[in-house]
Amino acid sequence: MRRKGIMMLLICLLTVSLTACLSVEEPAEDAQQENGAEEAAEEENAEETAAGDEEGTVETENTDEQTSGSETGSDILVAYFTYAENAELPDGVDAVASASIQEWNGETTGNTGAVAHMISEETGADLFSIRTVEKYPDNYSDTVDQGQEEQSEEARPELASHIEDISQYDTVFLGYPNWWGDMPMAVYSFLDEYDLSGKTVIPFVTSGGSRFSGTVSAIESAEPDAEVQEGIALSDSETVSAQEDVRAWLTGIGYAE
Ligand SMILES: Cc1cc2nc3c(=O)[nH]c(=O)nc-3n(C[C@H](O)[C@H](O)[C@H](O)COP(=O)(O)O)c2cc1C
Repeated sequence: MRRKGIMMLLICLLTVSLTACLSVEEPAEDAQQENGAEEAAEEENAEETAAGDEEGTVETENTDEQTSGSETGSDILVAYFTYAENAELPDGVDAVASASIQEWNGETTGNTGAVAHMISEETGADLFSIRTVEKYPDNYSDTVDQGQEEQSEEARPELASHIEDISQYDTVFLGYPNWWGDMPMAVYSFLDEYDLSGKTVIPFVTSGGSRFSGTVSAIESAEPDAEVQEGIALSDSETVSAQEDVRAWLTGIGYAE
């Protein structure tokens, strides 16, 4: 009888300890699963963050580099090349102001860029800055030399900025500085990239005095099915104070009130 009692006690103890063991193991497994899930979630979050960052970067690049027109719904585009937006300019460049670096509405641009902004403000046009992958030297006289080399090589610098949908524009104001009696070669890259057939193209130029040189006929040759109208030529020393002239010119050709 006493032996039977001891056996019962042993069985009870065994059952209790087994249950205890199981109930310890289960949470451990759960914890492992939970940890696994957390890790997976963290990984997923990390991936999402990375993807988000990538998308963010792309979006930023797109916002920075592309003009879609969807914001304004405008059918007019102002595409322009200007040195200051194509060079790695040193900090505080305004303190060492060069003839080709201007501030317009708090943005650093160049002579042609300032005129492009004026045209956009008057007409509600979208703005597109033609930018090259390779930046030009921050030293202006080195840029003058590079511009000449590119011209003699008939270079077509690769562009970093692209227009999402050129078809939405009926009129393209095309602005550039006169470089060695011609357009910067990046403007030819732009004309190679886009078919402006059926559109009105209105070139405008800033220069030290050479004005358009032969650039209007160069554009006509590059875009034979566009209607190219000679626009405005401004001297580099008068661009930032040219708003009234620009408005009067735009009014005269029917693009401003
Ligand atoms: C490479 C290069 C070549 C130039 N060649 C001429 C030229 O042949 N005739 C002229 O009048 N100005 C010339 N310039 C002066 C620019 O046309 C003028 O300063 C222009 O307004 C610069 O415009 P941006 O500030 O928009 O780049 C040249 C400038 C550079 C950088």
